[in-house]
Amino acid sequence: MGLRFIFMLTRNDMTVEDAEQHLETALSAGVHHIGFKDVGLPFERLKKLNAAIKAGGATSYLEVVSLDRGSEITSAKAAVEIGIDILLGGTNVDAVLPILDGSGIHYYPFPGRIEGHPSVLAGSIDEIVASAEQLAAHEGVHGLDLLAFRSSENVTGLMAAVCAAVDKPVIMAGSIGSKERIEKVRKTGAAGFTIGTAALDGDYPADSPELETQLRAIQRDVAGVNNHISPHGPKNLDRSFATFHDTWSPRIAGRVNDMHVKLVKLEGTFTWHYHTDEDELFFVHKGKLLMKFRDRDETVNEGEFIIVPHGVEHCPVAVEGVCEVMLFEPVSTVNTGNATDDRRVTDLAPV
Ligand code: NI
Repeated sequence: MGLRFIFMLTRNDMTVEDAEQHLETALSAGVHHIGFKDVGLPFERLKKLNAAIKAGGATSYLEVVSLDRGSEITSAKAAVEIGIDILLGGTNVDAVLPILDGSGIHYYPFPGRIEGHPSVLAGSIDEIVASAEQLAAHEGVHGLDLLAFRSSENVTGLMAAVCAAVDKPVIMAGSIGSKERIEKVRKTGAAGFTIGTAALDGDYPADSPELETQLRAIQRDVAGVNNHISPHGPKNLDRSFATFHDTWSPRIAGRVNDMHVKLVKLEGTFTWHYHTDEDELFFVHKGKLLMKFRDRDETVNEGEFIIVPHGVEHCPVAVEGVCEVMLFEPVSTVNTGNATDDRRVTDLAPV
C-alpha cells in the first residue's frame, strides 16, 4: 500500500467555516481520506460533515486538538457519537481507550509532549520515540499521529526513528506543503500524512491556488512518490494498423509481464509450424482468419479470437485480402515457430 494522503478541512488547527463546500471539491477531486478537527464548528455541523464524508465514499478522520484530559474525554465521546472512522491525536490514551472500546474507531494518538495552539511537539527524539513505543504497545492503539514538522528536532531523523521503533502505521501531521516533504515522509516509512492549510490557502506548488487544482497536484505527487503513475494511455487498433503496410511482419504494441501484444497484417497463406513452449492468441481486428489445424480448420471472424496451444501444429491463412490480427504471446515467441521460412522475423519494431 502506498503513502496515504489525508486532506484536513482545517486551517491553523481549526475546522474551517466553509468546510462543507471544500468537502464537495475534495470528493469530486477523488480524495479518499478526509479529516477535520473538533474545534471551529458546532457539534451538529461536524456530525453532518462526517456523514457527508462517508456518503462520498471517503474515510473520515477527527483530529483532537484539545490536550487537557477533560477536553480530550469530551472529544473522544464526540468522536463516537459522530461516528468517525479514525481518531487522530490526543495524548490521554488511558482515558480515551475505554471510551472507544467497541466503537470500531481506529485510534492514532500523538506520541511525545504536545504544547500550545497551534500545537508544537516538544522534547528530544529519544523522548518522543520512548513515548511512541509506549503508546503503540496498547492493543486499542492502531497507529500514531506524529506532529513531526512541529518539532524543533531533526524532522527526518525523528520521523525515521519513530517509524522504525513501532510496527504500527505512523501518520505525519502538520506543515507538509511540498513534494519534497512528501518524499521525505515516504522515505521514513510513514503510512500517511495530512495537508490542510497549505491546500486551502493555495500554497501547494500547483498551476493555480484553487483548491481542486491544489488537491489534484498533491494526489499526482503522491502517486509519483508511490510509483503509481502509468506511462500508458489507450491504444487505438485502427490508427496503429494504419501506420504500417507490410504483411507477416509483426510489430510490438505493448508488453504485459512476459507477454507481448503484437499487431500483424496477414495476406495469403503462412507456413505450417508449431511452437515448442509458447501458446499464442490471435484476435481478428479486421478481415477473416482461417486457422488450419491437422484435424480441422477454424474460421475466426472480426471481433473473435482463437488460442493455439504450444506444440499444436497450425497454419494461419488470411481468407480475403489482408487480415489484421492482434497477437498475445510470450516474448520468446518467433512467428514461424519450428519452421524454416523466409518470413521468419526476430527483430520486431514497435508500433
Ligand atoms: Ni504460430
